[in-house]
Amino acid sequence: MARAAKPTELTEVSEAQIAVHWKEEEYYQPSEQFKAQAIMRDARVFERFSLDKFPDCFKAYADMLTWFEPYRTVLDTSNAPFWKWFVGGKINASYNCIDRHLKQYGNKAAFIFVPEPEGERDVSITYQELHDRVNETAALLRSLGLKAGDRVTLHMPMVPELPITMLACARLGVIHSQVFGGFSGQACGSRIQDSGSRVLITMDSYWRNGTLVDHKANADIAVRTAEELGQHVDNVLVWQRYPGKYSAKTPMVPGRDSFVNDLLKEHKGKQVEPVALPSEGPLFLMYSSGTTGKPKGVQHGIAGYLAYVTATSKWVLDIHPEDIYWCMADIGWITGHSYIVYGPLANAATGVLYEGVPTFPDAGRPWRIAERLRVNIFHTAPTAIRMLRKLGPQEPRKHKYHFKSMTTVGEPIEPEAWRWYYDEVGKGEAVVTDTWWMTETGGFLATTMPAIHAMKPGSCGPAAPGIHPVIYDETGAEVTKGSGKAGNICIRNPWPGIMQTVWGDPDRYVKTYYAKYNKNPKSKDWRDWPFMCGDGAVQAADGYYRILGRVDDVINVAGHRLGTKEIESACLTVPEVAEAAVVPVQDEVKGRVPEVYIAVKPGVQASQDIVDRVIKANEEVIGKIARPKHVYIVPDMPKTRSGKIMRRVLAAISNRRDVGDVTTLANPDVVEQIRTMVQGKEAITAKQEALPEDIAKFGQIE
Ligand code: WTA
Repeated sequence: MARAAKPTELTEVSEAQIAVHWKEEEYYQPSEQFKAQAIMRDARVFERFSLDKFPDCFKAYADMLTWFEPYRTVLDTSNAPFWKWFVGGKINASYNCIDRHLKQYGNKAAFIFVPEPEGERDVSITYQELHDRVNETAALLRSLGLKAGDRVTLHMPMVPELPITMLACARLGVIHSQVFGGFSGQACGSRIQDSGSRVLITMDSYWRNGTLVDHKANADIAVRTAEELGQHVDNVLVWQRYPGKYSAKTPMVPGRDSFVNDLLKEHKGKQVEPVALPSEGPLFLMYSSGTTGKPKGVQHGIAGYLAYVTATSKWVLDIHPEDIYWCMADIGWITGHSYIVYGPLANAATGVLYEGVPTFPDAGRPWRIAERLRVNIFHTAPTAIRMLRKLGPQEPRKHKYHFKSMTTVGEPIEPEAWRWYYDEVGKGEAVVTDTWWMTETGGFLATTMPAIHAMKPGSCGPAAPGIHPVIYDETGAEVTKGSGKAGNICIRNPWPGIMQTVWGDPDRYVKTYYAKYNKNPKSKDWRDWPFMCGDGAVQAADGYYRILGRVDDVINVAGHRLGTKEIESACLTVPEVAEAAVVPVQDEVKGRVPEVYIAVKPGVQASQDIVDRVIKANEEVIGKIARPKHVYIVPDMPKTRSGKIMRRVLAAISNRRDVGDVTTLANPDVVEQIRTMVQGKEAITAKQEALPEDIAKFGQIE
């Protein structure tokens, strides 16, 4: 709970107040050409969304949707902080993303699917075709007895069948829980269990980096894992990457597994009325890592979420129905849900869906696709930008595409990488929006409005309309703009895109996002419930925010949140491992990668075999994305006298920094032994740049 800061406390430098030293970057202005065509170019929008106009200002977002029945209350706070948006209304997300466009855009592509093999043809899916396929799939799901409120887990790659399945669920009110296709079978299984899904929808295979991956194998592991955890799966529905042909080696399990394409034959041409669902009905779950080992099922509701992503797709991404929009992210993460599927489709966009790896077969691939399909809005993450820059800095120049707008999302972008994105990828013509937000927030929190604000490399910009951030220090005192101090960024007010709860664990929702700064747990007034985002941030004098990274135990690998506890518990599945500690290490391309320290049980000999099995355990329990860069077997973990592992010390060693004062540890000698093992004999003397905030502060809150 927050305390009022006493004057004496302000003279101390608290952890969250560590001064941030960074160079102010210069501004870049949007072109007149961009401004002239932009949907939102009126700076007065911020007056319309000022805090005194809250929450009614968000009616404008609800008006962008088509309602079966109008809502009565904009925001219901009676069960704060479980916010209910647009209460009393009846709506359907699938109808808003498809049916309402048919008359005007039925023959326009909703998606253009680009397979990874370059020899394979693009597949264009019009809104009419999307409608037909979603209806047939919804008919199939309904025939299995699925109805509004049931959960279904999806574990699918980047193929059109993924949005088709999501929209089929949405049509019925079935809550989809898509697990990132790159996650392991086990990770999928534990999410099946948590969500209580009795149906798993997957695909036999998909292309990744030139290999046709057997993805069905993961389904068997997922079902077994869920079963062990107490959740039975009745049906595994398997889409075929090549319809009519099975492209995986793993056998189908009779009675449990069936091919979607076979079952669909019975539902050909069927129409399913979109169910008129209550505004606050849940639309989907998206599991996200947090401070404890167990990922949280972040629950998003239908109307609020859809209104928010629709409006931000229109005003920030500036998607017009005539544009060709490409978000090169995976639908399995929140970015894909909000800004490949729901937001763009609600705006009748034409979106590119790319199956594979951006650098396959070479770093020119994205630019060839952009030129061929005349993409004019491009959206990706800093990790992809860094990779494409490293492997093909000159490649964009060779291609005749023109972007009007580009987005970056997922982690802070270095001004260097930003400038390459702007100069080379955007050819100095495209505006860049650096959009800061997270799974829990549904859509953008801070970003420039591209036709209104100047860009500043490395800063996401001011808050989006109707979002009113505040930075608090550890004591609950406000950190003022221009002070050069960092703190915990919170949002003062709820907004339509905010999560509804943590699936099955409402206490965790309150504790994680509100407990720290809420002064009155009984309050029904939204003003008492600032939402704590979990990021450290600093606000410059011009009002722009710079995000420093997570303040919880989360490592952001290539823009994807991995919980340190999840990784550590994966390591502990290797029987010889007694203790494990994971720390983030700076990486040129991925931003951060995990490095693992383990201590083995007494009597166990350290060996390469154990290292290999620890790596494998991470790949199996979480996925390849969690693969540690190094695994060090250490004689003992550096510990405080009370026995806590000092991850901060290990993070300093891994990042080649001075470990600071360790004399108060229970076992200070082990620190030098570990340091030598990792860094070599030579002590580091060279002058060093300060560590980025997220690493510098990592493990300090033990
Ligand atoms: C980080 C992804 C800096 C941040 C949409 C956040 C960013 C976490 C940015 C959420 C950005 C996201 N600048 N950091 N533009 N965008 N982040 O839930 O630390 O996968 O808390 O959602 O990514 O990750 P998530």
